[in-house]
Amino acid sequence: MTMMKKLHLGVAALAISATGAVAQEVEVLHWWTSGGEAAALNVLREDLAGGGIGWTDMPVAGGGGSDAMTVLRARVTAGDPPTAVQMLGFAIQDWAAEGALADLNALAEEQNWNEVVPEALQAFSTYDGNWVAAPVNVHSTNWVWANTALMEELGIEQPGSWEEFVAAMQTAQDAGYTALAHGGQAWQDATIFDSIAMGAGGPEFYQAAFVDLDPEALGGAEMVEAFNRMATLRGFVDDNFSGRDWNLATAMVINGEALFQIMGDWAKGEFVNAGMTAGEEFQCFRVPGSEGTVTFNSDQFAMFNVEGDAADSQVAMASAVMSPEFQIAFNVVKGSAPARTDIDPSSFDACGQAAMADLAAAGDAGTLFGSMAHGHANPPSIQNAMYDVITAHFNGEFDAETAAEEMVTAVELAQ
Ligand code: BGC
Repeated sequence: MTMMKKLHLGVAALAISATGAVAQEVEVLHWWTSGGEAAALNVLREDLAGGGIGWTDMPVAGGGGSDAMTVLRARVTAGDPPTAVQMLGFAIQDWAAEGALADLNALAEEQNWNEVVPEALQAFSTYDGNWVAAPVNVHSTNWVWANTALMEELGIEQPGSWEEFVAAMQTAQDAGYTALAHGGQAWQDATIFDSIAMGAGGPEFYQAAFVDLDPEALGGAEMVEAFNRMATLRGFVDDNFSGRDWNLATAMVINGEALFQIMGDWAKGEFVNAGMTAGEEFQCFRVPGSEGTVTFNSDQFAMFNVEGDAADSQVAMASAVMSPEFQIAFNVVKGSAPARTDIDPSSFDACGQAAMADLAAAGDAGTLFGSMAHGHANPPSIQNAMYDVITAHFNGEFDAETAAEEMVTAVELAQ
């Protein structure tokens, strides 16, 4: 309560000092539509309301944001961009290259963003040395979410290797449970693939295949192994997985129908929203094989070129988003880590603290990689080409060898 009050005052004061007048309204395009996401969004909305900034909501459902990006393109083409847009990685860079984004340099300088935002995020928030987006958080995709009661009932310990992970899922399936809660949507298949590929091939392979787009890595033995592991996972999903939304898959773990879900830590927002406690009713651990590495994505608010009051509101919103108090209040609900390096982890639960520690350690060790599935390893055109192959393989169209060959061809054609 005290924190929220302080936060509101902070926004109001900054809105006045940055612009000379109280800003009034932001229209925000985003894809935060699940229960946990909506709860986090509300933290932002109320924070802005406390500073006198109104909110026009423009939700476009669909994890990974592909659908949101389609709607955005239509809005910009019609000459009517929203004030602020939830955006990931390379998409920010693409829009900045088109000259569509506003310049947040004055605020960034005043608030010293260069010093407090991790460099891995700045690579996406800035274009040509100018700040064009305000980062809200850091998520990572290489997590397993597990139901503690079900683990105990089945006598399952946290798996420490790929083989133990598979054995645990076999135990759950044999006992009549869904071993792996999953939704068959291209972005979810790709989200799983992030950590499966990392586990199968290691960090150098991840870099070569997804960042450098090296054909030898794309079509090599590690890629074949990654697809083989995906086929193993396919054997552990239930019959109704096709098209299921990610949060409904999370609900299966929450309800004890399913043992595990591999998903980014936005899934934690669903557990928290259901009143469950990290490390008690649910567990988080890194996808076996990917320990010591982090595949991250950062939600950022990209600000489009708008004029007058709307531009003032953008500055006020960016200022609110970057405040340390807001970064805590929002991210404990969202399931993510803060987008600043100067935040005390003590307000975060066990999984949040692990996420913050893992991010810092991976950053130091050189094992922090942008998530392919969530737009931080390569541009949207390549990412979509990869999605197509991963999903086609998951649905049985290709065997592992063919899928690896298809990766090479698809990436070549998309460049
Ligand atoms: C975003 C998360 C979001 C998730 C599922 C990711 O791309 O970064 O903020 O919760 O998609 O919608």
